[in-house]
Amino acid sequence: MYSESYQRSLEDPEGFWLEAAQAVDWTRPPTRGMDSAHAPSHRWFPDGELNTAFNALDRHVRDGNGDRPALIWDSPVTNTVRRYTFAELRDEVARFAGALVSLGVGKGDRVLVYLPVVPEAAIAMLACARIGAVHSVVFGGFAPKELAARIDHAEPKVIVAASCGIEPTRIVEYKPIIDEALRGTTHQPDTVVVLQRDRARAELGERDVDWAALVAAASPVDPVPVAATDPLYILYTSGTTGRPKGVVRDTGGHAVALAWSMHAVYDVHPGDVWWAASDIGWIVGHSYMVYAPLLIGATTVMYEGKPVGTPDAGAFWRVIAEHGVKALFVAPTALRAIKRVDPDGLELAKHDLSRFATLFMAGERLDPETYHWAREKLGTPVIDHWWQTETGWPMAANPRGLEPMPVKPGSVTKPVPGWDVRILDKAGERLPPGREGAIAVKLPLPPGSLPTLWQDDERYREAYLSRYDGYYLTGDSGYLDEDGYLFVMGRTDDVINVAGHRLSTGAMEAVLAAHPAVAECAVIGIRDQLKGQLPRGFVVLKSGVEVDEEALRAELVAMVRRDIGPVAAFRDVTVVEALPKTRSGKILRKTMRRIADGRDEPVPSTIEDPDVLEALKAVLRGTPAEQRRAA
Ligand code: COA
Ligand code: AMP
Repeated sequence: MYSESYQRSLEDPEGFWLEAAQAVDWTRPPTRGMDSAHAPSHRWFPDGELNTAFNALDRHVRDGNGDRPALIWDSPVTNTVRRYTFAELRDEVARFAGALVSLGVGKGDRVLVYLPVVPEAAIAMLACARIGAVHSVVFGGFAPKELAARIDHAEPKVIVAASCGIEPTRIVEYKPIIDEALRGTTHQPDTVVVLQRDRARAELGERDVDWAALVAAASPVDPVPVAATDPLYILYTSGTTGRPKGVVRDTGGHAVALAWSMHAVYDVHPGDVWWAASDIGWIVGHSYMVYAPLLIGATTVMYEGKPVGTPDAGAFWRVIAEHGVKALFVAPTALRAIKRVDPDGLELAKHDLSRFATLFMAGERLDPETYHWAREKLGTPVIDHWWQTETGWPMAANPRGLEPMPVKPGSVTKPVPGWDVRILDKAGERLPPGREGAIAVKLPLPPGSLPTLWQDDERYREAYLSRYDGYYLTGDSGYLDEDGYLFVMGRTDDVINVAGHRLSTGAMEAVLAAHPAVAECAVIGIRDQLKGQLPRGFVVLKSGVEVDEEALRAELVAMVRRDIGPVAAFRDVTVVEALPKTRSGKILRKTMRRIADGRDEPVPSTIEDPDVLEALKAVLRGTPAEQRRAA
């Protein structure tokens, strides 16, 4: 039951997680839970040794489940459905692992994966895991510059890419993006492996090799045991600054926590069909599209398409019905997109959803309107839960497998066992129920959470552990109610969430500031009915500069798209006379954001010139078009 499990996880974390570790096959079982030698960062299962790909594939084959479906790829954009059993997927992974070895990749080497949602993405990730190489997947919607920053930071020996990704309105050719990125990097990989897709084949250069030819010549290799504390992958995520953070995931803690969460949180078991509708470039894609379902022997669905337009708003319901999906995990924005096109759920009624049990949502706030709509139309429990790239798995949820709890719309329910979630005020004191403050987690963090940032222990401590002594700072604010239910209200930093994609306004500001006409700028996230938040920019021109404002706006929008990528969805920028600042010169972004969201925000006592804020209010509150007129 939840209460006992939660209490025990906090009082005896080592005992609790060593017990959970029995669900994993170890080449050397751990005798110790936690190593505090690196405190405040903790390493889990310091003397354990295992292989994640073996746990995700080989052991199911060994146990007689090789014929069970492991992966179903459903791609409406290519009109394809492809199925792999555990035995087939194991063979593909073993062979691609052999291919990587033939390119000189070994334990600890990095491999950058730049692929859309295709089975080869999971195969490449698991192949890295099989040989102890460290993968770093980059989302396809990022621009060459963002890709270049990740290449220079992770220093991959090999890049594995597709010739293209397929968006409903256009083909995104990946090869030119990689070539452009590599023209700007200091680090150069030895080889670029290219998966040729018919929709746009890539021209191969000197260091490029064709996936199919490489695999045809490769021999399968066996899994290599690695230390539980060895890195499995690096996943870059947006921080407050323009520089992405390379979140490191270890091997043992990750396998244990994910396997445990599949049963306890999601109530998904061996043989069940599970679907996380995300992209492998995000944490949901890593944890719940690839690793967690396979670790427990469930079937994972990979979907290359959108919630609407590929071909219609019934696509999700078709996939659920056709593949017998028991539970779906999706970002609320996707449901809002479906609801907008099909508010009465007419598409839903066309499909047999009798095997569907639960809808899980995360990635951004689940607004009560979307919650009620989904609840009414689906008739199944709709479960909001909360976590981050850094934590790797849910910090707060309605633990469906442990003990289902009543849902309170707007709440992510209760802290999950392992996570000692506290609400703190500025001084680090615990706040009583109902009072909003910073959401922090008392150390130690449970297995599966980040042990550090890639080659940057200092930044890890500074970004997450330094604000409150003995706590991990989540960057979110919220409150606990009298019943211990958690309500997550939003970020306390400059991270925004656009259509479930985590982005840094700081990175966008850096792009705007590079324009020769711009003296100062601010980018804030404002509420959006579909995408949850959208970035909106404000620029102050250098004195004496004369520009055509319409042309400038177009240039700035194009610059953000070029330097960060289309996924930023940056379309609105307004030229203003001045930006509101504190007397020490800090731009009052939070105040601007709150005003834009329609809150009655008091004028901060630290403001330098209240008139500037007053003048900006009309601009902030208007629609983009009104804003431009007012400005
Ligand atoms: N590769 C290249 N470009 C991509 C891309 C990818 N993998 N993913 C998105 N883009 C591009 C889109 O083509 C679009 O470009 P455009 O400006 O030329 O139209 C831009 O990035 C924004 O894309 P997106 O955020 O997907 O917006 P959309 O308007 O096309 O679709 C939704 C809106 C709500 C349907 C869509 O955002 C969605 O399905 N969201 C769910 C998000 C999700 O699963 N998040 C994972 C976290 S759990
Ligand atoms: P990411 O690292 O991309 O998963 O983004 C994590 C951030 O998304 C969190 O810090 C929150 O700000 C936000 N988030 C994730 N899930 C939820 C949720 N269920 N409710 C509110 N915000 C969420």
